[in-house]
Amino acid sequence: MILVTGATGTVGSALMEVLTKQNIRFIAASRSAARKYEAAEHRVFDFTDPATYDALRGATRVFLVRPPRLSNVKRDIAPFLGACKAAGVEKIVFLSVVGAESLPIIPHAKIEKAIERLGVEYTFLRAGFFMQNLSTTHAEEIRERNELVLPCGRGKTSFVHARDIAEIAAAALHGRLREPAVTVVGDQALDYYQTVKMLRAATGRPVEYKPVSIPRFFWYRIRHGVPVRFALVMTGLYVPTRFGKAEVRGVDISGLLGRRPIRLETFIEESKQAWIPK
Ligand SMILES: NC(=O)c1ccc[n+]([C@@H]2O[C@H](COP(=O)([O-])OP(=O)(O)OC[C@H]3O[C@@H](n4cnc5c(N)ncnc54)[C@H](OP(=O)(O)O)[C@@H]3O)[C@@H](O)[C@H]2O)c1
Repeated sequence: MILVTGATGTVGSALMEVLTKQNIRFIAASRSAARKYEAAEHRVFDFTDPATYDALRGATRVFLVRPPRLSNVKRDIAPFLGACKAAGVEKIVFLSVVGAESLPIIPHAKIEKAIERLGVEYTFLRAGFFMQNLSTTHAEEIRERNELVLPCGRGKTSFVHARDIAEIAAAALHGRLREPAVTVVGDQALDYYQTVKMLRAATGRPVEYKPVSIPRFFWYRIRHGVPVRFALVMTGLYVPTRFGKAEVRGVDISGLLGRRPIRLETFIEESKQAWIPK
């Protein structure tokens, strides 16, 4: 049985849809009751509460999502990894981030190391920037202020759609993808001027990209209510884009899924309600 953590989140919920379509039974785990899928057994699970690790009962494969707010790996994630091993989990598919292998300080790199030490099979999906960031993290600034404020200059991003990550995750969970680590990005690299052009075309609204300095980006987030710790993480994640580090090549999605990766234009068209005021 597959256990999906982060089941109510962006990639976890996309994975549940994929597994449901494939008629695979699975366990949906998160603190709140996950959306109801007929193929799922819903179990309450909290990384920080070992009393809920019983959610692992019967699980042989785990899709692991690190909740963005849990950054103390030793305290918050490692105990669950130990419980996976003790429960007889045979494979962990971990949603990691592009470049984790060369950024030892970030939580994803620490989780990768902890999984390597466990002695179970694993696949790390080192995902690029999700297209969904535009309709979640950045939705308000686009919708309310017609702006997208980032410290990325003209740097390009190889965006990826959560559904593509979910389908690759399913392939890894089913054993069709056995590599220990792959980079998962779309086949198109775009800068944020090109991105807002697509947003303008889809919404008919005058959305502008505002490339700002690194300190200005940080203060913009604080001014708009982002907690300091989270604003620091966001800064750390976005600054490399400015230096071309978010333009990368990934695993052959077309070869794995038998179709091309989803393009940003398609995502923007299907999500445009997120940027139109009610
Ligand atoms: N955004 C990007 O561009 C990007 C790119 C690469 C990698 N990533 C990585 O992807 C991960 C986030 O994935 P996502 O965006 O799919 O998730 P998400 O939408 O942020 O959702 C987080 C999930 O974690 C669950 N959760 C939160 N606290 C929890 C806890 N204490 N115990 C158990 N579950 C908890 C939440 O459910 P409940 O609240 O119901 O518990 C929710 O299902 C992060 O590690 C991020 O760094 C993101």
